[in-house]
Amino acid sequence: MPPSKSDPIAIVGAGVFGLSAALQLSSSGYTNISVYERDTQVPARYSAGHDLNKIVRPEYEDPWYTKLTLQAIQGWKTPLFGPHFHQTGFLHLVSGTAPEKATQTLGRFYSSIRDHPTFQKHLIPINSQKDITDIAWQLNGPLPGWNGYFNRLAGYAHSSNALRAVYEAAAARGVKFFLGDDLGKVTGFVYGAGGQKVTGIRTGNGKVVPAALVIVAVGAAAATLIPDAGSQVVAKSWSIGHVKLTDDETSKLRGIPVTYARDLGFLFEPDPKTNLLKICPMGGGYINTDPADGVSYPPKSLAESDGVLPPGDEARMRRLLREALPEFADRPFVEKKLCWFADTSDSEFIVDYVPGTEGSVVLLSGDSGHLFKMFPIVGGWVGRLVEERKQGVERWRWKGGAKKGKWEGDVSWRLGETREFVDIRSPVCAKL
Ligand SMILES: Cc1cc2nc3c(=O)[nH]c(=O)nc-3n(C[C@H](O)[C@H](O)[C@H](O)COP(=O)(O)OP(=O)(O)OC[C@H]3O[C@@H](n4cnc5c(N)ncnc54)[C@H](O)[C@@H]3O)c2cc1C
Ligand SMILES: *[C@@H]1O[C@H](CO)[C@@H](O)[C@H](O)[C@H]1NC(C)=O
Repeated sequence: MPPSKSDPIAIVGAGVFGLSAALQLSSSGYTNISVYERDTQVPARYSAGHDLNKIVRPEYEDPWYTKLTLQAIQGWKTPLFGPHFHQTGFLHLVSGTAPEKATQTLGRFYSSIRDHPTFQKHLIPINSQKDITDIAWQLNGPLPGWNGYFNRLAGYAHSSNALRAVYEAAAARGVKFFLGDDLGKVTGFVYGAGGQKVTGIRTGNGKVVPAALVIVAVGAAAATLIPDAGSQVVAKSWSIGHVKLTDDETSKLRGIPVTYARDLGFLFEPDPKTNLLKICPMGGGYINTDPADGVSYPPKSLAESDGVLPPGDEARMRRLLREALPEFADRPFVEKKLCWFADTSDSEFIVDYVPGTEGSVVLLSGDSGHLFKMFPIVGGWVGRLVEERKQGVERWRWKGGAKKGKWEGDVSWRLGETREFVDIRSPVCAKL
């Protein structure tokens, strides 16, 4: 039996999953929804979506996701999401010195749309510097050996603003939000007589709040509330940094496509409000394994991730600029940080009931670094799960048998080694 429309539903975490679930369930008539968020604000600074922008591109190595993203892009064009979606196009490339793995991945992405009717007339193969400057004259660097394709039916979303919009829409529908360490941070669950069914949550101030259904949407922190998730969700981070531009520079770069050289990283059109041009170097990322149990958790405070930009990442970002936008190649990076997400061994999300809780707990996690683009349709998945009481999408089920360990080498679209946070943070903290 699904919960009745007036039953209390507790959603933990106001990120992409939590906010979309709140909006969807309130739209389908649930009247007592509370969202608990540990930060004092939404968009929450702990959220992987607390950022200027995220790529919205439909091509995937797996055509199943291509189809899904095409639905999401329809959602990005609706009144709620439209103001935050910018269809600048996507220049998807590798540099002249890219490893074979990057080139092969790029090829698989391209295949997923090349023969797809939706993309006819919207794809341009890129084989030379001129092919690139024909699309974006502003990319006036040498672009040595850069090749790939341009997809006009893609772009990016202003992610913080999109989170804020959905937060405001949910609040306007009567969803209650509890924020901050005392009222918003969930520290554990309360169990019914049998010891399996969760009947409520406990917040930072020790208060117990009853709930008929608890939806855990805490992203990278999943294992802090559901220890069994630690064998399937790995808290991982990538770095980001920005270049601060002048008004004229921002204006000049207006409309440039999202530009991704897979082996160097990606950059976006600058944000006209802040004049910040964001760059993300990607790579194998950083995990934060607790030696006591072998599980990677996000660091406890924001301060630990702020200002961190490991030297190898900075070097790739500098090279990306030198080859594409050389006038900014030596400008300092600002608002640097590590951004924590919930990685899984197969890059599949987890949208399912937690086994052994008698249907009282749903886990939404395992975003694997590619959920943001789905924001407009994520709520629908949760709505179906709650109404139908079972997950029909096999690939998003609770991954019971997954084992701990270093599996990154198997993920085709990741380049580079995954490293431990502790190994990269020390020199930064010492300010060498
Ligand atoms: C550098 C980087 C680049 C990315 N680029 C892209 C991209 O280009 N395209 C794309 O589609 N996706 C991208 N992503 C992925 C995207 O940001 C994530 O998939 C998405 O934000 C995950 O959403 P979530 O709801 O699972 O988690 P989050 O958005 O992280 O939200 C989790 C929330 O739970 C809260 N929380 C945690 N613990 C508690 C607790 N105990 N009590 C209460 N609240 C709690 C946190 O404060 C946070 O607000 C990127 C991610 C990173 C890190
Ligand atoms: C909503 O749920 C809370 C518990 O989470 C409960 O205290 C409150 O009375 C409920 N409100 C209504 C109107 O039922």
